[in-house]
Amino acid sequence: MATLLHIDSSLFPGEASSSRAVTDAFRRTWQEQHPGGAVIYRDLAVDPVPHITADAHTAGFADPASHTPGQAAAFAERVRLIEELEQADAVLIGAPMYNYTIPSTLKAWLDNVILFGRTAGETPSAKGTPVTVVASRGGSYAPGTPRESYEYVQNYLTAVLADALALDVDFIVPELTMAPQNPAMSELVPLFEASRERALQDAATKAKALAERLAA
Ligand SMILES: Cc1cc2nc3c(=O)[nH]c(=O)nc-3n(C[C@H](O)[C@H](O)[C@H](O)COP(=O)(O)O)c2cc1C
Repeated sequence: MATLLHIDSSLFPGEASSSRAVTDAFRRTWQEQHPGGAVIYRDLAVDPVPHITADAHTAGFADPASHTPGQAAAFAERVRLIEELEQADAVLIGAPMYNYTIPSTLKAWLDNVILFGRTAGETPSAKGTPVTVVASRGGSYAPGTPRESYEYVQNYLTAVLADALALDVDFIVPELTMAPQNPAMSELVPLFEASRERALQDAATKAKALAERLAA
């Protein structure tokens, strides 16, 4: 039975979060397709993982037999997160844009799981695992928009997820989510609504297609 690793990182709970609404739609469809499948859930806003430390980093390059107690403890936490990634048949990540890039909690998770010689390097251990990223953002950074060059979510996540971890990355991008609250964006509300609808539909369509592909 297939296992989904679902990670959320929005500050906001439930429906108050644009990315959680879409990851939730993806996960519900996935579970309909895989009623007996496992979902490993990490809510990084509620239960953040530790920032990488010198012990956690250096332990990744040292013989485990030589680890100090501090290195052993820090490395065990990294390995737990890495094993969750390695066990997953598919990964789902909610990655809202905060100050042009990803939430720091998601960066901390990445710093833990990217381990040269295991998940990264010549033979990345989760190579080819499909990962769907819901990259919600208050404005638009689409090609041709004035803020295109400030887009450090999809650019960055492509570098780490596709290039470093060798995962098969796909994005869903609900954008202009600040339009309903920001009077200066009032003209953009219809575009926001269309983007939200498209994202929710994409989540269901992609989850179903992925579940069918993995079952085949
Ligand atoms: C701390 C913080 C920083 C933000 N920075 C940006 C930003 O740089 N660009 C942007 O377009 N929206 C920004 N936003 C708006 C969010 O990207 C937008 O509300 C998005 O839908 C958040 O997804 P979420 O509701 O799942 O957290 C920011 C929001 C917060 C809370």
